[in-house]
Amino acid sequence: MVTFKLDGCNPFVKQDDYAAYVQKAFEAFDVLRDETGEGNDFLGWKTLPSETPESLIQACEDVRDDWKEKGVELVVVIGIGGSYLGAKCAIEALSHAFVRPEGHPQVVFAGNNLSEEYLAELMDLAKLRSTAVIVISKSGTTTEPAVAFRIFKEYLEQTYGKPAAAERIVAITDAKKGALKTLATQEGYKTFVVPDNVGGRFSVLTPVGLVPIAVAGYDIRALLKGAAEEREALLVKSADNAAIQYAAMRNLLHSECGKAVEILVTYNPKLTFLAEWWKQLYGESEGKDGKGIFPASVANTADLHSMGQFIQEGSRVMFETVVNVEKSQRDVVIGADFQNLDQLNYLAGQHVNHCNAMAQLGTKLAHIDGGVPQMEVSIEKIDESNLGAIFYFFEMACGISAYVLGVNPFNQPGVEAYKKNMFALLRKPGYEDQTEAILKRI
Ligand code: PA5
Repeated sequence: MVTFKLDGCNPFVKQDDYAAYVQKAFEAFDVLRDETGEGNDFLGWKTLPSETPESLIQACEDVRDDWKEKGVELVVVIGIGGSYLGAKCAIEALSHAFVRPEGHPQVVFAGNNLSEEYLAELMDLAKLRSTAVIVISKSGTTTEPAVAFRIFKEYLEQTYGKPAAAERIVAITDAKKGALKTLATQEGYKTFVVPDNVGGRFSVLTPVGLVPIAVAGYDIRALLKGAAEEREALLVKSADNAAIQYAAMRNLLHSECGKAVEILVTYNPKLTFLAEWWKQLYGESEGKDGKGIFPASVANTADLHSMGQFIQEGSRVMFETVVNVEKSQRDVVIGADFQNLDQLNYLAGQHVNHCNAMAQLGTKLAHIDGGVPQMEVSIEKIDESNLGAIFYFFEMACGISAYVLGVNPFNQPGVEAYKKNMFALLRKPGYEDQTEAILKRI
């Protein structure tokens, strides 16, 4: 479960203003609950934690077991945006930072960029390992994953033969439409459906997240259960509801205190991709119609030595939301040293996590003194259940927050602009008539 703190905003806001924004968040909560707002055909994510059928969970676990039996050592998850960030976040958070997993395949990601070197180097790895692919695209037409999949499909077919390659490919896409659906049906790939009423960035608890996370060896039942418990808590319309508090305060800071940037702050490298997932969720949901809070992130304490100066003393445009993890699941205690040449004996006997916690607290006070309001989202520890909870918390708060802001959280019309230019420049059929006009501009 998530707990939420707002005390780091007290010096910056008036309680009456906060109460007014809680009222706005209540109204937005009603709109989201009653499904009366813009984008209300994309609200399937709300009930995923409690309504995911056992048969679907089992099917995700069957992929894991089948590939284990086949001796698969490497799984390449191909997807971009909402079709990879949730799984990447969960797997990075749950995995050992340095040692490859035993008993489960290594899970890596492709199709989220168009770097030739990245693909070539990933192919180098695939050649050393027994490889399988999960290709994810809701629309089934996105260029980056389509390019990566074409390359990996060819590689798997050449390496294992066409029938065996088909058994090493799982496609996750729309139930009926899109090039990937057509391809998967024709080639006989095992296929999972991205529900029509769940947008990419809200899809981590659909097969988009569940299949890769299960294949990596993590407990998707606990993930869903954690999200379901969080959902129960967030269903209550009250001023204690953490999603309502977060939505109210970030809108207040933005609209009344001139804060245009929100920084998600983590203090554990395992959570770096939680910030990437969050940035997409809030950036694509709120950044439209000339509105929105720009979502940024820092990974502390590393970034205290790079971005810390700006946050402390630069333009006063930001507030911070810190992701606090209460417990470390590993122990590393700093020893005593007879000579004490490094002058660290004052820390002898302390856990490294204690130093991290003091750095976090010291930073909170310094940033508040420097004019940066701070909120805090806490989880007890990094595990499947808590990740499920924090995913659901941020999704629910995002829906409420965007409705307070007055935008439709569930569309992303702006992402088409670059695609049109790129397609014209690549002379994609149907776009060639725009190529000359674009070339004249560059
Ligand atoms: O949130 C979204 O809808 C987008 O970011 C998509 O996830 C992203 O563009 C990938 O789309 P698709 O899954 O259709 O390939």
